[in-house]
Amino acid sequence: AAADAVRPPDDGGLSASPFLLACRRRPVPHTPVWFMRQAGRSLPEYLRVREGVPMLESCTRPEMVVEITMQPVRRYGVDAAIFFSDIMVPLKAIGVDLDIKPGVGPVIADPIRDAAGVAALRPLVPDDVHYVTEAVGGLAGELGSTPLIGFAGGPFTLASYLIEGGPSKNHERTKAMMYGEPELWADLMDRLADLTIAFLKVQVAAGASAVQVFDSWVGAVAEQDYRASVLPHARRIFAEVEPLGVPRIHFGVGTGELLGPMGEAGADVVGVDWRVPLDEAVSRVEPGKALQGNLDPAILFAPWETVESRARDVLARGRTAEGHIFNLGHGVLPSTDPDVLARLVELVHEASAEDAR
Ligand code: CP3
Repeated sequence: AAADAVRPPDDGGLSASPFLLACRRRPVPHTPVWFMRQAGRSLPEYLRVREGVPMLESCTRPEMVVEITMQPVRRYGVDAAIFFSDIMVPLKAIGVDLDIKPGVGPVIADPIRDAAGVAALRPLVPDDVHYVTEAVGGLAGELGSTPLIGFAGGPFTLASYLIEGGPSKNHERTKAMMYGEPELWADLMDRLADLTIAFLKVQVAAGASAVQVFDSWVGAVAEQDYRASVLPHARRIFAEVEPLGVPRIHFGVGTGELLGPMGEAGADVVGVDWRVPLDEAVSRVEPGKALQGNLDPAILFAPWETVESRARDVLARGRTAEGHIFNLGHGVLPSTDPDVLARLVELVHEASAEDAR
């Protein structure tokens, strides 16, 4: 209807972008699509740019960050860019001694195990990450009407890296603190939530059009413990980011049992991994949310006919949601063929535009 027509935007077309419309549960010309971990990893042009530059150092070079963020936008024509950085960058910026080891992940020199370790985590000020402000500013000119997603780590996931000292299968030391030292745990989660809020604010102030909180490993926590020990902190993050006026996405892996409480945390969009079909996720998440997901990243290694039928299935189930942003159920796997991702973007755009007619 004419009353619903999008007014001519004075923001370079951003407010009419399918990604931002879907986040807001508004009608879209086609289902928007982007991929978690689309920047880096599988692209040959990424590997060339990064040659000889350590991961964390690359995040501090604005020109490199702009180039890597743009690579998947140019190659795939995705509906959103994700800022090239890492969930560990703000921790490094406040002085935590850490490295990101290729093929391993984040490694912490002195894991946090006691009150003194927690007390040493200081607040982040914008100048700590001036290179982020510079890079986001530089992207505004390059991106045009493609929105930029800023991001930060969720508090459980950051706590796990800090306490375990590196990647962990069982998160046993982390859970030992969560179960056994609730006051120390709450202090740690408060500080990490503050860090995430500050890092997201820097990115939005510099021009990011949406934010995603990656609490990637929170699926390891039972619902009861999530409600008691994580949800209050997640809720505070989304409440403090709300006044910035950009859509907020909340994602974790293996969170089928947590989709309800994760929705209650207050984001506009709930990310769903591949284990729960989107129409089932709709019934687990409270009304008034868009969903993002959820093709199994490993399906991209199957023959194209399989990829196509599974992608169409995700689109069909996504139509039961109030808004749907097509994505993988987790990040792009490093050995993924970029041509398959390019073909998938084309398929999502064409198939969903036909349905919209
Ligand atoms: O493309 C994008 O999504 C934007 C950039 C981005 C990176 N990390 C760059 C990166 C994003 C959004 C992240 C988030 C991130 N980092 C998460 C949450 C997302 C998820 O996958 O669940 C987590 C858990 C981390 C921590 C981390 N950093 C891991 C587990 C690894 C992988 C280690 C490895 O090599 O397998 C990293 C390193 C990292 N972050 C790389 C990239 C492109 C690879 C390092 C390299 O290319 O040298």
